[in-house]
Amino acid sequence: MRGLSPELSKTPVVESGDWLMLADKCIIVGITGGIAAYKAPDLISMLVRAGADVHVIMTESAAEFITPLTLQTISRNPVLTRMFDPLGEWQVRHVSLADRADLIAVVPATANIIGKVCAGIADDMLSTTVMATKAPVLFCPAMNVHMYENQILQDNISKLRSKGYHFLEPASGRLACGYEGKGRLPDVSLIFEKIQNLISFDKDLEGQTFLITAGPTREYIDPVRYLSNGSTGKMGYALAEAARDRGARVVLVSGPVSIPVPGGVTHIPVVSARDMFDAVIEHYSGANVIIKSAAVSDYHPKVRLSTKLKKSRGDWTLELEQNPDILQHLGENKGDRILVGFAAETDNVLENAAKKVRAKNLDLIVANDVTQPGAGFGTDTNIVKILDRDGQVEELDMMSKKDAANRILDRIFKLSKAVE
Ligand code: PMT
Repeated sequence: MRGLSPELSKTPVVESGDWLMLADKCIIVGITGGIAAYKAPDLISMLVRAGADVHVIMTESAAEFITPLTLQTISRNPVLTRMFDPLGEWQVRHVSLADRADLIAVVPATANIIGKVCAGIADDMLSTTVMATKAPVLFCPAMNVHMYENQILQDNISKLRSKGYHFLEPASGRLACGYEGKGRLPDVSLIFEKIQNLISFDKDLEGQTFLITAGPTREYIDPVRYLSNGSTGKMGYALAEAARDRGARVVLVSGPVSIPVPGGVTHIPVVSARDMFDAVIEHYSGANVIIKSAAVSDYHPKVRLSTKLKKSRGDWTLELEQNPDILQHLGENKGDRILVGFAAETDNVLENAAKKVRAKNLDLIVANDVTQPGAGFGTDTNIVKILDRDGQVEELDMMSKKDAANRILDRIFKLSKAVE
């Protein structure tokens, strides 16, 4: 354990016991010219205390807000500002730092740096290093609310997200420019947490392709009415994000949800169970692992009306027809893929889930009792039981869907090693 000076050990993150999580990690903190630059030293000192080797690259405008000397003192490393400053070493510097980095965090990130990276411009030390790295890059935008809402910036963010760049949304509140709204740099402890999440996972799933289904399906009755369920996609998206963070290539087939698609995954939006079936069939042959966390409607209306059904007196009977069971079909054509189902249960959870493992030829099933508070539909947490083919059950406590996702991936990783 590294020694900590008494005043450095006051930070809550350090006291949580996680402080060595970043030992041996090389983190580049890029600082651009926004008023929130004054918060960067807090983040840098948290990273240093967590064991990281921190290198700071500032733009020239950032140096108007905060001095390189302050950052050099806190990071304990020389600070880079200009492309050509130190003794003609710049070429080596930006490439070697880009190669060594486990992560680059741009804090705060102005519209300018986001626009430059989006356009592939590398005209200063920071943009050049960001362009030259293969490490994850996290942008923490902070700016005036109207600038943040500008569609050009939002398009740039979407494009970068789709290429695998990470973003931490700004917080809302009173801004330095006097406006109220979204644009504040989030609390540095949240930025620290995000950095930890992004780099602390081993890339143990590298080389694997995951096909993950998420969200509900909609079975339209007429152009305005449909049958569906309360799935928000949170569980499936957490799995996609976690698998991506652990190095897997991820294809995410998702029913209609309103949460953002994780960057760096291939997203295939679908609406009905039939659409989901078609998308899964198109992509499953290239997958090593398939996880079916979607809540698929078992039935669709026998007739889909092309115009809105007018209200008439009396009751209405809707005739339903069964949808294909996607998981069942995959189980029958499993090959050597790892196949993981979910079971949303309200009673006899283990018994019902165990039946599904056998009937659908699964390697694992993740059962959740959707009547339990903190579990199932719409919550940020879940309480799951993981059952295998031999009837072994791993019961997990309530935890965030991201943590549950990682526990499920741990089991899949073990299975993949067992069949190698
Ligand atoms: O999206 P969230 O709000 O985060 O909620 C998460 C969740 C509750 C949706 C998730 O944790 C969950 O339980 N997903 C499975 C829901 C479900 O449809 O369970 P089921 O027991 O009805 O189906 C069993 C399995 O068969 C599931 O893997 C399902 O995807 C699959 N199935 C079902 C019907 C069908 N026609 N085709 C299928 O492939």
